Amino acid sequence: MTDTDHRTIVSCSVNGRRRDDVVPDNMLLVDYLREHIGLTGTKIGCDGGECGCCTVLVDGRPRHACLTLAAVCNGTDIETIEALDRSGRLNALQRGFNEKLGAQCGFCTPGMIMAAEGLLRDNPDPTEDDIRQGLAANICRCTGYVKIIEAVQFAAAELKNEKTGAAA
Ligand code: FES
Ligand code: FES
Repeated sequence: MTDTDHRTIVSCSVNGRRRDDVVPDNMLLVDYLREHIGLTGTKIGCDGGECGCCTVLVDGRPRHACLTLAAVCNGTDIETIEALDRSGRLNALQRGFNEKLGAQCGFCTPGMIMAAEGLLRDNPDPTEDDIRQGLAANICRCTGYVKIIEAVQFAAAELKNEKTGAAA
């Protein structure tokens, strides 16, 4: 008997679409997303919970998909980087990373953006310290982090302006 003989049904929502999949009990969420569904925007860096490249949102909270079993996501709402521009327009964080040059090689960027997305939903007006804390589980080997923090500040300001504009 192999590991894949043990299977389970995962019923969840991925980027707003309801899914019911039969997967191996031991399949990691990152493999479910990348290999089973084909959402390769979520990256694998260390594959051991150290780098944050694989960060996605599960019920709105950032999670390392390389440390999470797909089976435990049964009944949850999962969001990946592919969810963010579904309206056909980059979202505020994606615009921020573009505008402030927050990405260099770009490998950490999907995970950074998803961690920042979770942060801004919880705390739309973060201080620099809040942003540093919110992204503490995400490692970037290229940027030195300053540009990433500016990108998140840009997004927070844009979202605030959009809210104020909508309320006016
Ligand atoms: S790949 Fe998941 S934390 Fe590094
Ligand atoms: S932009 Fe290269 S690792 Fe972050």
